[in-house]
Formats: sequence, structure tokens, C-alpha cells
Amino acid sequence: MNRLEAALLAGALLSVGAAVLVPAPVAPTGSTGERPRATPGVRLTMMELHRQGGVPRGWKPRVPPGDAAAGRETFVALGCPACHRVAGEPFSATAPSGPGPELTGMGSHHPAAYFAEALLDPDAVILEGAGWIDDDGHSTMPAYPDMTVRQLGDLVAYLTSLRQPEGTAAGHGPGMMGGAMPVEAVSSASLPDAPAAPPGRTYYAQSYDVLPGRRAAFENWFAATGKARFLEIEGLEAVDTYVDLERPDTPLTTVLAFRDEAAFRTFLADPASAELWQQLDGFIGPHGHRATDRPPLYRASGLSLDLATVESRR
Ligand code: HEC
Repeated sequence: MNRLEAALLAGALLSVGAAVLVPAPVAPTGSTGERPRATPGVRLTMMELHRQGGVPRGWKPRVPPGDAAAGRETFVALGCPACHRVAGEPFSATAPSGPGPELTGMGSHHPAAYFAEALLDPDAVILEGAGWIDDDGHSTMPAYPDMTVRQLGDLVAYLTSLRQPEGTAAGHGPGMMGGAMPVEAVSSASLPDAPAAPPGRTYYAQSYDVLPGRRAAFENWFAATGKARFLEIEGLEAVDTYVDLERPDTPLTTVLAFRDEAAFRTFLADPASAELWQQLDGFIGPHGHRATDRPPLYRASGLSLDLATVESRR
């Protein structure tokens, strides 16, 4: 069991325990009282499960579905705004008094299970920032051992619903290379066997799942609007989207190739590109943005065999 599984399980057990000791929680106001139902997941026999190594192939931990409106109220009720600003929210009208990263627009950048883990175990992933880590190396975010599974699901739904609002410049957290979008620079050292960098070019890539049932709408948007907008970008030389059929949710990777780094930086700093990306974000799940000096998808020669040319083959 990894840390997240353990944390999720512990959270579930804690809440089951709490339910026995305390009266059932009242439905939070703002919720319709009807709980969203989870979509049935993968089905398999015990034998198949064991054969696949204990978890189904492509397994990702799930979070119970929640109600974003109720989650927003829970966010206030549990005092989260004391440390976390969410731009555009009335409860963030005054600056937070405690230390914590801004959460504006973070729904576009992390999967639901990441949010769940951040709440179940703030020490699991510790972000570096002034006042965010105590002298013993722990996160200064409090633990919420009495949080119910319902509150957890609702909070995650709320955090997931936070998209970059119109007109705001920065995303949350560090890692900005400047401009409107957080970009992680991938160094060549982290790309073993990487093909030689074509002179000058900069590649900008993101891998993502299309939101359920939105693939056709996404393609229609691209044909009607997106395409023309990409063509307007000065110094953009190629747009390629790849599909990974091997993964259960067939994620896509889109790669933009720029003539040079200057063109890429101009693109990043242009408010029009932030707007373009915002439109695109409406169709897709959480993702990061990465920049490299060489194609981010390539054949790893250290893990491949060209059987036609292997001499020792009998
Ligand atoms: C006393 C201040 C404080 C309070 C209250 C607090 N947090 Fe945090 N939170 C932090 C700090 C500091 C971090 C960054 C350190 C870390 O990664 O744990 C953080 C990190 C997070 C992250 C991860 C952010 C990222 O970009 O990866 C999430 C999500 C989060 N908090 C949500 C919440 C929610 C929801 C609540 C209310 C239930 C809450 N926090 C209450 C201080 C706080």
C-alpha cells in the first residue's frame, strides 16, 4: 500500500469511526441534499486483480464524488481562507493572515487524488515557501482528523472547480518562467537518449485527459476557433497532438514547436495566449505545462530493439 492509499484508507476508517461516535453530520447548506453518485469503475475477478499485480492496470486512486458548492462552504467553515487566497471569492477580500499558497485556478493543475492527499496528509507533498515548513520539516498546514468523507469529497470537488479566472495574470505557486502560465522547464539531463536538440527550437508540451464526453466538442472548438488562433501565433511552427491508446483514459499530448526561445517567450507573455489556453482548459483535465529544447516524444533507444539490424539474433 503506498502512502496515498494508506492515507485514503485511514481517512475512510477515521470517518467511519467518527460516524459511530458523533451524530450524523447535517447536510451542508448550499448542497441540494442529493449526493452525486460515483460512476461504476473497472470490474474484474479476484484472480485477474492478483494477476495484474494487486491493482487494475492503469489504476489511479479515486475520490468520492462531491458537491462543489457545499465544498466551498466547507472551505470557509473549516477556516481554509485564513491561509489560502482564492481570487474572486468574497472570503478572500482581505489577505490571508496565515501562511499558505494561493489556490486560485489550481483545479487545472492537479488531479483530484492529489487534492485528497493534501487534505488527508499535508506532510505527503510539502511545497516550499516562506512559513510553509516548520522547524521539524513538517508542513505548517494543520491536519483535519475529524473531516468526514463527505467533507473531503466536497472540498475536492470545490478545489477541482477552481479554474483560472478571466484577467488574472499568475497561476498559483512558484515555477513561473514569466508570463501568464506556469511552465516547468525540463532539462535535457532528465531526458535519457533524447534526440539532439534542433538548433533554436523550443517545444512546449502538455499531457492531459479530455473531460468525459467532451472529445467531439473539443475537436469542434479546435476546428472552429482554436486552429485560427494558433495560426496567429508568431513564430509557432508546428502543433501536434498525440494519443496514448495504451492507457485506459487515452490521454493526449499536445506539442507546440516554436522557431526559437524568443518566440516562445513572446507567446508566454501575450495575454491572448493565456486566453487561448483558458478556452482549451475548458475541455481538458488537470495538466502541467513543460518546455524543452527537444521533441518531448521520442523513441528511447536504450529501451528499444531494431530487430532487423540485431546481428546476434538467431
Ligand atoms: C495554517 C494555515 C493553513 C490552513 C488553515 C490550511 N492550509 Fe492548506 N496549506 C498550507 C500550507 C503552508 C501549504 C503548503 C505546504 C504543504 O504543501 O503542505 C498548504 C497546502 C495546501 C494544498 C496544496 C497546494 C498545492 O498547490 O499543491 C491544498 C490543496 C490545501 N493546502 C488546501 C487546504 C484546505 C482545503 C484547507 C482547509 C480545510 C487548508 N488547506 C487549510 C497552510 C494552510
